[in-house]
Amino acid sequence: MKIAIENLNENELKPIYSDASQLGFGRIFTDRMFTMRYNTTGWADAKIEKYKNFSFDPSACVFHYSQEIFEGMKAYASEDGRILLFRPEQNVRRMNRSADRLVMPPIPEEDMLQAIEELVVAEKRWIPKAPGTSIYIRPTMVATEPFLGVHPSSEYLFFIILSPVGAYYKGGFQPIKLYVEDTFVRAAVGGVGDIKTGGNYAASLMAGYEAQRKGFSQVLWLDARERKYVEEVGAMNMFFVFGDKIVTPPLTGSILPGITRASVLELANHLGLKTEERAITIEEVIDGISSGDITEAFGSGTAAVISPVGSLYFKEKDYSLNNVQVGEVTQRLYDTLVNIQYGKAEDPFGWVKEIGRL
Ligand code: PLP
Ligand code: COI
Repeated sequence: MKIAIENLNENELKPIYSDASQLGFGRIFTDRMFTMRYNTTGWADAKIEKYKNFSFDPSACVFHYSQEIFEGMKAYASEDGRILLFRPEQNVRRMNRSADRLVMPPIPEEDMLQAIEELVVAEKRWIPKAPGTSIYIRPTMVATEPFLGVHPSSEYLFFIILSPVGAYYKGGFQPIKLYVEDTFVRAAVGGVGDIKTGGNYAASLMAGYEAQRKGFSQVLWLDARERKYVEEVGAMNMFFVFGDKIVTPPLTGSILPGITRASVLELANHLGLKTEERAITIEEVIDGISSGDITEAFGSGTAAVISPVGSLYFKEKDYSLNNVQVGEVTQRLYDTLVNIQYGKAEDPFGWVKEIGRL
């Protein structure tokens, strides 16, 4: 694919963040973005251009019926100056799965990868180097055709924006408090909970907002049918540690098949831990925490990396894990994963892709 690259003048460049160790999540964006348009003749007009507002017809389909999908991935700077992506082909594949579910056009995998790589390399001055920082990559597709009937759009915009980021949660790598939501649900089997579409996050806002007002970081969702089985957290998949075994809910269609989740399962096996993907009830979790069978819990996600869970609040009671300290298994998985992502440790799985140098 031919990508036109717009060069910006010195005076058009934004001032870069002054302290990479103070970066939060997703507030700062780089100078340029990737865009490409789709109409009945296919994808065209691929370019890396100045980051700026879009102009859409007020009746554009995305505004009314949420025909929108996105991905979340990161580029990391290694200490020896390499720019690394982590399993990018998995994000590209998932993006196309999301597209398929919402009747949106696929993008050839090699084109999407090329767009991501060229943009990150073009914007490399923005890649932060402080420990735990990275550049967050947000590929997005929206339906742009102007109409009000309910049917798939015939025109789309695909764009990629970049944001230098630090820790997703305010406290950094610290145990978080989760609120077990037993009223609202995020997604039901047969719906769109297993793809990355904005509507899933819209559906989660009310519960998340209430939980945050009460001092919790995020919501732990239960299944839509019975409010009995643990599903996932707002932006993470969920793991429970039973001694030397880690257990995570199976991919039954209502939770996101996380790339970090899949990586944690492989890593855990590699490190000699046992793994199990099975339905786990909230009752079993509460009993397990109370009896000490569950020794740790953590979430996994691109933005959140591996986040230790310090406590669960369920039906007016707080259940704390491992004295609200980071557990041994969580720490070990975090260190191993992060060291692979930053090119510090051997990568026995071939997960890391070098796309250029700083
Ligand atoms: N679950 C939800 C709802 C998410 O938004 C995310 C973040 O992408 C995840 C799980 C974790 O997925 P991944 O590890 O692919 O980032
Ligand atoms: C991610 O981890 O990439 C996410 O998408 C989480 C989120 C900010 C929605």
